[in-house]
Amino acid sequence: MARVLSGIQPTGDLHLGNYVGAIRRWAVEQQPEHFYCVVDLHALTVDYDPAELRLATRELATWLMAAGLDPTTVTLFVQSQVREHSELAWILQCVATYGELHRMVQFKEKGQGRQSVPAALLTYPVLQAADILLYHADEVPIGADQRQHLELARTVAARFNQRFGEVMTEPTPTFPEVGARVMDLQQPERKMSKSLPAAGGLFLGEDENATAKKVQRAVTDSGTEVRRGDDKPGVTNLLELLSAVTGSDIADLEQRYAGAGYGAVKRDVAEAVNAFLRPVRERHAELAADPGAVEAALRDGAERAREVAAATMERVRDAVGLLP
Ligand code: TYM
Repeated sequence: MARVLSGIQPTGDLHLGNYVGAIRRWAVEQQPEHFYCVVDLHALTVDYDPAELRLATRELATWLMAAGLDPTTVTLFVQSQVREHSELAWILQCVATYGELHRMVQFKEKGQGRQSVPAALLTYPVLQAADILLYHADEVPIGADQRQHLELARTVAARFNQRFGEVMTEPTPTFPEVGARVMDLQQPERKMSKSLPAAGGLFLGEDENATAKKVQRAVTDSGTEVRRGDDKPGVTNLLELLSAVTGSDIADLEQRYAGAGYGAVKRDVAEAVNAFLRPVRERHAELAADPGAVEAALRDGAERAREVAAATMERVRDAVGLLP
């Protein structure tokens, strides 16, 4: 049985990219040895408000449950409630190199233009490696933007094992067939992201009207032909979205919309995305009415996660030469 782990940051609102890139797959084939964490420690690396972070952490956990994660089956928890993550991150910082971290694309992007860059933005991927390696995860379901971080986690695991003996499991990333990189509706050459203006993103927490309007206003490309192509980033993104939420083949969609124009595609994308998100949005409204139940589920999840994490740390501490 494969161990699975993945994580998501409680920064900004949950968007369709997060959902089809990662979360949707977390709800399939749920098992007790599947670990999903809301990575609040990672969220400390950007400018944030403490009160908002607390709310966002609970809110994100509520969305994960609304998306179908059953916390009585999988282990759903908040990263900071399992202290071993920070402890292992320090030890792995002694294994990863400055050069490796400096090459990370996300570090360069997030650091760009900032007057002062927190040191943790550089070491961020090491904490991510710790998240994964603590649970001996075999598989990590993620979107394409996390590929480089996973490579680092594999490198760090291998180096640790070489130096200290076989303790770590090298994780394998998995990506969805469609939707590994959902693009922004206003800037289709950039990935949909919490940090871009809201007009380009489709958020789970917005109403159907807002979603439909944003799709209608999505940037399209010159010409009228509905097809996928590097010269058509806007239309390509719409087709990929439609494919991701309906399961239709892109080639079939191109045929269906031959001669129909961009308007028809947009109308169908808006409708399909809303239909796709409707049950999740409804379930979220129900769960949000009982925040106590979400918190209880998280406490229980943290307890189960801690058991595994503590056992790994015992082995790690021994391997690297710390006193018991
Ligand atoms: P985060 O919080 O930015 O995103 C959560 C998941 O959503 C995916 N994703 C996307 N997929 C498709 N299209 C997009 N536009 C898009 N934007 C985001 C991400 O690839 C991710 O799978 N560093 C991680 C969080 C993390 C983690 C971990 C992940 C911390 N520890 C351990 C896996 C395992 C991050 O910032 O994801």
